[in-house]
Amino acid sequence: MTDARARQIVLAARPQGKPQPTDFRLEETAVPTPRAGQVLLRVRYLSLDPYMRGRMDDRKSYAKPLALGDVMAGESVATVIASHHPGYSEGDIVLAQTGWRTHALSDRADLRKLDPAMAPVTTGLGVLGMPGFTAYAGLRLIGKPAPGETVVVAAASGPAGSLVGQLAKLAGARAVGIAGGPEKCAYVEDELRFDAAIDHRDPDFAAKLTAACPDGIDVYFENVGGAIWQAVLPLLNKFARVPVSGLVAQYNGVGKGDGTDRLPATMREILSKSLTVRGFINNEFAAQHYPAFLREVGAGIADGRIRYREDIVDGLERAPEAFIGMLEGRNFGKLIVRVDA
Ligand SMILES: NC(=O)c1ccc[n+]([C@@H]2O[C@H](COP(=O)([O-])OP(=O)(O)OC[C@H]3O[C@@H](n4cnc5c(N)ncnc54)[C@H](OP(=O)(O)O)[C@@H]3O)[C@@H](O)[C@H]2O)c1
Repeated sequence: MTDARARQIVLAARPQGKPQPTDFRLEETAVPTPRAGQVLLRVRYLSLDPYMRGRMDDRKSYAKPLALGDVMAGESVATVIASHHPGYSEGDIVLAQTGWRTHALSDRADLRKLDPAMAPVTTGLGVLGMPGFTAYAGLRLIGKPAPGETVVVAAASGPAGSLVGQLAKLAGARAVGIAGGPEKCAYVEDELRFDAAIDHRDPDFAAKLTAACPDGIDVYFENVGGAIWQAVLPLLNKFARVPVSGLVAQYNGVGKGDGTDRLPATMREILSKSLTVRGFINNEFAAQHYPAFLREVGAGIADGRIRYREDIVDGLERAPEAFIGMLEGRNFGKLIVRVDA
């Protein structure tokens, strides 16, 4: 083993609203030594995901919050650099829950081995990993688009949203994406081949969304919440389905909201249109549906029916700045940190 020191980024302070660089601290530690049954991993690519913002708050959720001083949680593509585990050899490339650091120990039998000959290994963090599976499971199992129906999704250039629209098209539905800025909208229409893309920063956003959905909305895949949900709500058709996957517009909220309480109107629409609104965390479907997801989406990437985009930032020390930017929409595609390629 040649590495002298390891680096890691810990939660230094709980953010008040938008995270600041001072909420993170870069530390140097010794490279850990694997015991019997363990492997030592060197992180190559670290995934940055919106859910990480929730872990920084001391608030009850589906996952335990981080304590101050804990290494930031996260999934990585890593190389096995020493193995005392019978199932792994030096040089294996795996997906692992390492957190934001350069080196980690693992004794988990459920590391997922990646085959670089099948697809670029970074896809395991995006289109062929957790965000991609979220799109697949939420759309197929909850949204259930039928041919000719209209499917709307926001954060449409990101790893979850981009696959939602492409799978909707493959199911014969119309796909309308919502994204921040003209460049992302052009990508969603031209590269991802959605039927329309609307910029949520446009002052006429609500009117343009209405025009792009002349037959209303049958499936709204909720990634964002806030002002976008308010524009979508009156366009939902009777019996529309709303897989509620994420609410990124409110992750930096400090409890005051945006001054407009839409809950009464939301409940009225749910009742009067017999809407199905279903929240979900992707892993509730994983045991039964992950193999079909990898097979179908993997084949779609291989033959060009499914496209994806990655936004790769160099250096672990740039992870906090990149993460803060993602919560403002500065990433364009699946956000990944190249720690040591
Ligand atoms: N339920 C689950 O199991 C699960 C799993 C994975 C992800 N998710 C959720 O899926 C959503 C998308 O995540 P992702 O992994 O695919 O990453 P992502 O699309 O890269 O998420 C970041 C994007 O969200 C958009 N955004 C951020 N703040 C916004 C705001 N105030 N208003 C509108 N858009 C905003 C920005 O895109 P624009 O610039 O285009 O607005 C930004 O680039 C998130 O809500 C995430 O929490 C849920």
